Amino acid sequence: MLGAHVLRALRRARPDAHIHTWTGRAAAPIAPGVLAAVVDLITPDSIVASVRTIRPNYVIHTAAMTAVSDAFARPDHAMRVNRDATAVLAEVTDACGGRLLYTSTDMVFDGDAAPYSESSSPRPVSQYGRSKLAGEQAALSIRDSLVVRIPLLYGLPVSPRASTFAAQIAALQRGEALRLFVDEFRTPIWVEDAARALVALALADVTGLIHTAGPERLSRFELIQQAAHALRVDAPRLEAVSRLSIIAAEPRPADLSLDGRRFVRGFPECAPRPLSAAVFEIT
Ligand SMILES: NC(=O)c1ccc[n+]([C@@H]2O[C@H](COP(=O)([O-])OP(=O)(O)OC[C@H]3O[C@@H](n4cnc5c(N)ncnc54)[C@H](OP(=O)(O)O)[C@@H]3O)[C@@H](O)[C@H]2O)c1
Repeated sequence: MLGAHVLRALRRARPDAHIHTWTGRAAAPIAPGVLAAVVDLITPDSIVASVRTIRPNYVIHTAAMTAVSDAFARPDHAMRVNRDATAVLAEVTDACGGRLLYTSTDMVFDGDAAPYSESSSPRPVSQYGRSKLAGEQAALSIRDSLVVRIPLLYGLPVSPRASTFAAQIAALQRGEALRLFVDEFRTPIWVEDAARALVALALADVTGLIHTAGPERLSRFELIQQAAHALRVDAPRLEAVSRLSIIAAEPRPADLSLDGRRFVRGFPECAPRPLSAAVFEIT
């Protein structure tokens, strides 16, 4: 989802740049006309060999085991992909003279003390959050690396791969009902704004830790309701439910709102826009 948008944003910002892309699956195109090298993050040798061949001066690392339920079901695998592979990638990139940007998540927080700034203490309550926090630590242990925490992404994917947001909108367009939480809050960001932010941060050689956040605090229900309206879905069937009404394997944080003001102060031209300004078509 994010990686293909980063590629588009980077091509727009730096049409002359030599851009290499990696993917986990050979068969699935990540964007029209893009030849991506296949790398398995579980196999450190393949990462090292690939970076040593390309010798990039900058790596934007958006790959991860991203499904919270998968990370819960396969905690060791999540740590290998999200922590160990990040450590290998950071080390070999640094050894080749490059810098690493690692994309992290609002899910490193517990949801009890929002909004969260860069100085807030992380306390993940899911295996996914723990593995992403461990990935942050691996990245930050290498000099001049950058960790960017991102909230929930919304928007359409560039590639034909599935995304939760696109699947939810498609379900509404088919007339299916969706049950959505009214008491789980995020500061969702339009995926194109997130990609633009990552590219701006990379090109400016920012280091350390920074948050990006959409300008609105929305529940899952509000996010899809507003997106359905923007996409002109006819009579969307939305059912409001409480996150406390379901039995979940891991706790569901109540409010993961991020404070993204530091990023906006540094990059006002890239300030994430409200959902009402998002354009839901890939041009
Ligand atoms: N989506 C969100 O709402 C959200 C919110 C906050 C932060 N983030 C973070 O933003 C980043 C991008 O998220 P996303 O939603 O774009 O994720 P995504 O659509 O699930 O994409 C993840 C990518 O990682 C690749 N990958 C996974 N395991 C791999 C492995 N073992 N070897 C090689 N590649 C592997 C996948 O490749 P294949 O598909 O080819 O297997 C896929 O291209 C992640 O770091 C995520 O933690 C996402």
